[in-house]
Amino acid sequence: MLYQSKIAGLGSYVPENVVSNEDLSKVMDTNDEWIQERTGIQERRHIKKGDGNSTAVMGMKAAKIALERAKIDKDDIDLIVFATLSPDYYFPGCGVQVQEMLGIDTCPALDVRNQCSGFIYGLSVADQFIKTGMYKNVLLIGSENHSGGLDMTTRGRSVSVIFGDGAGAAVLTRSDDKGQGILSTHLHSEGKHALELSLKGPSTMHWVPELIEENPQEDIPYYPYMNGQFVFKNAVQRFSEVIMEGLKENQLEVGDIDMLIPHQANLRISQFIQKKFKLTDDQVYNNIQKYGNTTAASIPIALTEAWEQGKIKEGDHVVLAAFGSGFTWGSAIIKW
Ligand SMILES: CC(C)(COP(=O)(O)OP(=O)(O)OC[C@H]1O[C@@H](n2cnc3c(N)ncnc32)[C@H](O)[C@@H]1OP(=O)(O)O)[C@@H](O)C(=O)NCCC(=O)NCCS
Repeated sequence: MLYQSKIAGLGSYVPENVVSNEDLSKVMDTNDEWIQERTGIQERRHIKKGDGNSTAVMGMKAAKIALERAKIDKDDIDLIVFATLSPDYYFPGCGVQVQEMLGIDTCPALDVRNQCSGFIYGLSVADQFIKTGMYKNVLLIGSENHSGGLDMTTRGRSVSVIFGDGAGAAVLTRSDDKGQGILSTHLHSEGKHALELSLKGPSTMHWVPELIEENPQEDIPYYPYMNGQFVFKNAVQRFSEVIMEGLKENQLEVGDIDMLIPHQANLRISQFIQKKFKLTDDQVYNNIQKYGNTTAASIPIALTEAWEQGKIKEGDHVVLAAFGSGFTWGSAIIKW
């Protein structure tokens, strides 16, 4: 390793439009009690038609804040990494859109498709490029427009109540201090469970007319499918494993964690991990209550908020961990 990378600036953006559990109960058969009891979610944000937002636009808004806080000029960005499962276009990716929106000339832009683990996968990519000395400054974005593709009827309720829109961004830069910054990242995937949490189409294999013809009305594959309990069981196991893997790699103990930011999949999953590791409320940051699951955006939004609230201080050990569709999972150990 030639260099170390560190987070120099963080930013987040969520649309103004708040959608409460009560609001959802007006369009589908659900209720506040069921949603809060199973997921901890009270409300989420949805893009409103005409508010100008999209996955790329929200990503750009979060990126602008992160760049300003990092005090790094857009023209000094060497690489853009954009993580999302809900891009504006089938192709090209959102990375090039943000490049254009920010007025950045010809740096490379890379889209990452690793769903809820997207931000950690992106962080790992950014870290490797900085560590080898190839790039100095990387703009990393996680952004999702879930509301653009959810089944907002009773048929889709077990998925649609969980997900929300938003974006988060981090500017990573080269650090001279080898003991500070991203200490390590740990990535995994297990493709045999690919369809347990998936959106089959529209895609080259499943185009719209075929989708409608091939499938009975009650199982429409152009909306996300989730085997909730199977995902839950795998998530709690993989979260625990990958956090321990990261700690071990750095000769750290659970007690050394100053702040754990778990991907905001479900408050019950976070609480399970907190209890298992015997962490206090101050050692774990959750905001799923306000935003739902924002997939690739959830960790950078939570990290930004925790930092803004002064909950992360210099020298702290910050642990990020995620699990999601693929299945994919990962962790990052950071010395702030
Ligand atoms: C999705 C999840 C909240 C569902 O909770 P659950 O306890 O597994 O609930 P089930 O799916 O077994 O459904 C229980 C009942 O509630 C009903 N239900 C489903 N969604 C509902 C909703 N939004 N409102 C009211 N009732 C609902 C079901 O139809 C079922 O009814 P039935 O018993 O009459 O058949 C839970 O499985 C979960 O959180 N899984 C992990 C999800 C996750 O983390 N995903 C992202 C990974 S990155």
